[in-house]
Amino acid sequence: MNDKVIIFDTTLRDGEQVPGCQLNTIEKIQVARALEALGVDVIEAGFPISSPGDFKSVVEISKVVSNPVICALTRAVKKDIEVAAEALEYAKRKRIHTGIGTSPFHIKYKIRTTPEEILKRAADAVKYARKFVDDVEFYAEDAGRSDNKYLAKVIEAVIKAGATVVNIPDTTGYCMPEEYGEKIRYLKENVPNIDKAVISTHCHNDLGMATANTMMGVVNGARQVEVTINGIGERAGNTSLEEVVMIIKSHHDLKLKTDINSKLIFSTSRLVSTLMSMPVQANKAIVGRNAFAHSSGIHQDGVLKKRENYEIIDPVEVGIRESSIILTARSGRAALSHRLEQLGFTPNKEELDEIYHRFLFLADKKKEINDEDIRILMGEVAQGEKALKLELLQVTCGKSAIPVATVGVRINGEVHTSTSSGNGPIDAAFTAVKHLISKTVHLEEFLIQAITKGSDDLGKVHVQVEHQGKIYYGFGTNTDIITASVEAFIDALSKIK
Ligand code: KIV
Ligand code: ZN
Repeated sequence: MNDKVIIFDTTLRDGEQVPGCQLNTIEKIQVARALEALGVDVIEAGFPISSPGDFKSVVEISKVVSNPVICALTRAVKKDIEVAAEALEYAKRKRIHTGIGTSPFHIKYKIRTTPEEILKRAADAVKYARKFVDDVEFYAEDAGRSDNKYLAKVIEAVIKAGATVVNIPDTTGYCMPEEYGEKIRYLKENVPNIDKAVISTHCHNDLGMATANTMMGVVNGARQVEVTINGIGERAGNTSLEEVVMIIKSHHDLKLKTDINSKLIFSTSRLVSTLMSMPVQANKAIVGRNAFAHSSGIHQDGVLKKRENYEIIDPVEVGIRESSIILTARSGRAALSHRLEQLGFTPNKEELDEIYHRFLFLADKKKEINDEDIRILMGEVAQGEKALKLELLQVTCGKSAIPVATVGVRINGEVHTSTSSGNGPIDAAFTAVKHLISKTVHLEEFLIQAITKGSDDLGKVHVQVEHQGKIYYGFGTNTDIITASVEAFIDALSKIK
């Protein structure tokens, strides 16, 4: 049978400490409800003595959350513990999380006391907290840089005083994975009463090793992990929930499990990101925008043949509908053809060749080709050869410059050129085009639109041209808005019989 790893979520405490990430009580309740639905075992709801807002949030979350244990943080200080107990009054299952620094740094420079005094204060705090609740977690702050022998003595004393969980934080994110794993193993092997408590990991990401350290802690005997959604937290953040959960889910060899409903990971990630105004980096494991996006032609081809060629997790498992194939200049025909099919187009071989050729031309100018671009490219291919075709466009314009345009238009197979000035580059180009055709036309309507977003996007131009009382419509798209305009104008002129 697989061993259960307890998921202790501290998004609302360590995560919320991040500058700019503060939530009001209503938003915290929203996150707490999402964490409950996700299946976390413990929610660290706040640090009640730190502010009236934190106190209130712990009270309100305690009222609305039923399944997870609600945990409140304290220092090893009587008043903190009393206030935490008061805030937890309505919690169905409650835990006080108390602790003190155990590293030489913290003992000497922060608390300015002796190791003996720390040991006594740690045990006293746990004993005092046990007067209010049955479930008391002790944290040995900066355990990552604490001496293992001394740490073992503190852990033994707090378990004796009634701690049910012992948290071994790598507060500064300094440990190497082997070192952190070894620390947990040392405690497992050298604390005589360790079987009476659950060992918890709490790793920070200062050197990018939070998840690796957490997993080494688990491999060496920890059975609770302290994590946050999207890995938010002090400085470089905490271990991210989604990474640990998906490692455990993907590595069956570990023989571990969690009670997390992984299909809710993505929506929870986005809820936290939105409420905390904390964007998720695009390449963030599991929940980043690019976590299931493939952009190189070789990878796209591989994924289309069999998803597992380049993906170790099915995106559906974390609540993302499907992997995405990003169409760029590096994409091959397979990826383009797949997207065309998804959009309902079934081009024959020649059409596909033609659209791929146009696609590469556009992709060279535009970083990413979206569905709208493809629909437009397909429209162009479907129309076939036109009577008039823009072959050359050169404009000079700018502040204090006289706008001048030279156009080259293929008319019945032969390219004719003309140059003209105008009140702007588009007017100059339209006038130059008019010089090349032997028809009197009036521009009735001219509309420019950006199709989606971004300055590298396609511009879409619609024109209406009048000739002998009849209206002709023209359409053009290009990343260059002047070219799109002239193409739209020529498109309309080509329709005049
Ligand atoms: O990083 C840390 O040591 C902490 C403790 C308060 C648990 O957040
Ligand atoms: Zn922390």
